[in-house]
This record gives sequence, C-alpha cells and structure tokens, in this order.
Amino acid sequence: MGGQSTPEARSRGPFGVRRAYAGVMGPSRDSRPGIRAIFLDIAASCERLDAPIYADLARCVAEYSDVEPLSSLLAPYADARVGDMIPLRLLSAVHGLALARRAPEVAIYLPTTGGAAPRDDADRERLRRAFLATIDAHRKAVAASLARVPQTNEVGRTVGLAALLRRARTGFGLPVRLHEIGCSAGLSLRVDALVAAGVVSADHPEWGDLPDVTERIGCDLAPVDATSTEGRLALTSFIWPDHAERFERLRRALDVAGGIDVALVTADALDHVRGLRLEAGTTLVVWHSAMWLYLPPETREGIRSALERLGARATRESPLVHIGLEPLSEDRETQHRFTLAMTTWPGLDGLPPGVEVPWGTTPPGGSPVTWSVPCAGGIVRDDQGRILLVRRGREPARGLWSIPGGRIDGDEPWDEAAAREVLEETGIRVADPRYVGMVERDSGSGSTYVIADFAFAGDGEPQAGDDADDARWYDPGEIGDLDTSPGLVEALREWGYLTSCD
Ligand SMILES: C[S@@+](CC[C@H](N)C(=O)[O-])C[C@H]1O[C@@H](n2cnc3c(N)ncnc32)[C@H](O)[C@@H]1O
Repeated sequence: MGGQSTPEARSRGPFGVRRAYAGVMGPSRDSRPGIRAIFLDIAASCERLDAPIYADLARCVAEYSDVEPLSSLLAPYADARVGDMIPLRLLSAVHGLALARRAPEVAIYLPTTGGAAPRDDADRERLRRAFLATIDAHRKAVAASLARVPQTNEVGRTVGLAALLRRARTGFGLPVRLHEIGCSAGLSLRVDALVAAGVVSADHPEWGDLPDVTERIGCDLAPVDATSTEGRLALTSFIWPDHAERFERLRRALDVAGGIDVALVTADALDHVRGLRLEAGTTLVVWHSAMWLYLPPETREGIRSALERLGARATRESPLVHIGLEPLSEDRETQHRFTLAMTTWPGLDGLPPGVEVPWGTTPPGGSPVTWSVPCAGGIVRDDQGRILLVRRGREPARGLWSIPGGRIDGDEPWDEAAAREVLEETGIRVADPRYVGMVERDSGSGSTYVIADFAFAGDGEPQAGDDADDARWYDPGEIGDLDTSPGLVEALREWGYLTSCD
C-alpha cells in the first residue's frame, strides 16, 4: 500500500504538509470586489452552510448598501478585502444588540434569542425591516462593531484536541502543560472540563483517558475574557443565529469556562512560542486552531523553527507535542476542510521526531472528525539494489504492482506494521526499519489513508500471501514499465529509489 499515494504530500516535516497551513484562506480573501459583491458572496456561503437567516440579511444589505444608514456606515469599507469579514462584523453587531435585548423586533426571528426563524416571505420582509431599523437606531454601536476584528472561539474544534491529547498521554504517559496560540477566549484550554461536562464529545475512545492538565496558558493579540459579560456577549454575537446548536454549545462552554482558571496573555504567537521551555515530568503541548491563516509568512516560519529548536532538546521525560487544526489548503474549494495534525518530539510509535501526522479532517467547526486510516509500507531492497514489489490482490489498486503494505493493527507501531506487512505479503523477514516519508491517499470512502513508508534491506525468494497475489524483485529500471499503483513511481523516484532508471 505504501507509495501508492501521490508524492507531493511526502515531504512531511513539521508543518511541511502539502499546502496545508500555506497561507491565508485563499487568494479571494485578499481580493477587493466591492462591498455589495462581498455581501452577495457571504450570502452564498451562508446558504451553503445552512444559515438562511444570515443569507437573506446579507442579500438585504447588498440590496440597500447605497441607501442610508448603510451607505454611510459601509463607506469606510468600500475597498475592504473579502478577508476583512465586513459582513460578519455588521451581522454580529445586530445579533449582539438582539442578544443584549436592545433589538426585540429582530430577536423574535432569531433561534439564538428564543425567536422563531422566518417561515415565509412576509416574515422575511418583517425581519429585513426590523434589521434595517435596528441599524438605523444604533448607528454608533454598529459603527463601533464594524471597526472591530471578528473574534470567535469555536468549541467544536476542541474535539480533535481532546483525542490527540489522549494519544499523547498513551505515548508519553505524562501530565500536560497546555499552551494555545491564537487562543481567543482560550475555551479549548479547558478541554478536560469540556469533555467531562459533555460539551464536546470524547471522540476516538480507544485512545484512553485524557492526561492531567497542569498548566493552561493561552496567547492572543487580543484575548477575550470568557468570564466577563462583555467577552461572553462578543463571542456569542459572532455565532450565526441560524446555528442554534453551536450557540448552545458555546453557552455551555462559557459556563464551564467560569470554573477553570486559565492564564491568557496578550502576545504575538511567535514571541510566545520563542519563550517556551520544556520541563521534566510533563509534556508541553502547543496547540492552535483556525489561526495559522492570519499569520504573516515570516511569523509562520519563525514558529516552525522555534518548535524544531525546542523539539531538538525534547526527551521522553520532557516531550514536545504540536497539535494543529487548520484549513487543508488555501484553495477556495478546500478551505472549508481542516486538517487535524500532530507532531511529536521525540517520535512516537516508530516514527522519528518531527514527523507531522495528519490524523483526520474536519469541517471548519471542528467536528465531526473524519479519522485517517494509518497504514505502513516497506521499501525492501536486496544487495543487488532490486526492489520488492507485490501485485495487489485486493482493492485499492487491485491488479497493480506496489510496495508491500497495509493498515496498522490497533496500537501497533508504524515501523513494526511495515515489517509485518512485508512478511505477510512476501514471506520475507525484514528488520532495522529506516523511515522514508509519509504519503496520503484518498481511500475512496471519504477518509484518507496516511501511509508511513520505511526502507529495509532483505533477500530471499518472495512468496505472495495475504493481500498480494504475486511478489517479485524488480530492477529499478524495470519498474517504470509495470502497471503500478497511482503515485508509486513518482514517490520512489522522489525518494531516490529509481535514479538508475531515469
Ligand atoms: C479565528 S480566531 C480562532 C480562535 C480559536 N483558536 C478558535 O479556533 O476558535 C483567530 C485568533 O487568532 C488570533 N491571532 C491572530 N494573529 C495572531 C498572532 N500573530 N498572535 C497571536 N494571536 C493571533 C486572533 O486574535 C484570534 O483570536
């Protein structure tokens, strides 16, 4: 199975994942199509994301953007970028007024303020009028909200963190010092309490219990105090009123937050990471979600290097773990899919330190997590430089030649899984694995195969078994002429195994 994947994902160092974490949400975020187009664009997104109330209000703003009071309120933002999120600022201004009981005519139509969503065109028209009247009556407050950068804190993103913290505990068996960069109100820092209170689900139960959390520190350019009325109102106002379930989860998380102390510092993420120190007897976990896209390239690079430097000093008594949940790529098509990834120093389960494992993907709200399927492959060479290939007897890639490999069994270490697969599929016993790289492949059923490939030396007459219906040694020069699984040749070439046949 290993090596079937397209090779572009192969060079996984810390944060080296494909185009994940590559940049801002997409080139379109930097475009300046004009305020009307921005509102129409968000209306389309709201429609897609099951938010018809906001979709209609965004269309209403587009329609009346040239009319008072909208024309003067929006005038300063005529040249705004899509990424400035002006619609969210305006819509949340009115949502905030409704939540503060200052806009009852709007509130009666919003599920988050106890109202009933508009049922027909007449209701929608009444809501539009109430919305415009509220803006008119509260021009000053709306203008202030328009000037404020939206700041949310999505509790659902804690689901993946909880799962990977359990994975880290299984691996290192130590309590955790949890540091979050771009933490907003730091709700995720209360991860254990949120799981205990049932606010977020305990996904991936086979990974055991959560570790004890002995330190919770969040950094943000503008941290929000989730225990203050103002902070709570700001956070809740940014939830789309169509999404009553998310709103309720946030409300419950805010209740939990009041009982758990966290330290929030006003700092740039890079300065915070540079100041981190390892401590014997604890795992230092650096976590972030939905913030990488806001960082300039030099800050991202600085954080990467700071973590690598810290990681170089990490030991099993003082490990470093980095967990991120960030958009899969900057393309508009895939920016609504996030990757949940973990990197550890030292390495875990047979992987070297600093290898980023994409454990799953999520919608922007963080749950549910679609878990990756961990797999391992073996690149076995004999003393003549020949490579051991199998012809696959099962899907995926049935009938095609590939390196031996397959799924990891339970808690089996990746490198041991690779050696086992080689033995089962070819009868050849191998030892002394050397990690080569990681590739990803679509499983065809919504999840992703994440395949760690290991190099081995081996010899003997192969006997096909298990998933393989043939097994043979091939000279590197012959492999290009075989019917091989997608991406195999490219991956082997990129890793330098086919140089003699190029
Ligand atoms: C979209 S919010 C995400 C908040 C939270 N992590 C979540 O997933 O709900 C992005 C956060 O990153 C913070 N941020 C942006 N640039 C930052 C930087 N250079 N250093 C620290 N925080 C930053 C913003 O203030 C904001 O709170």
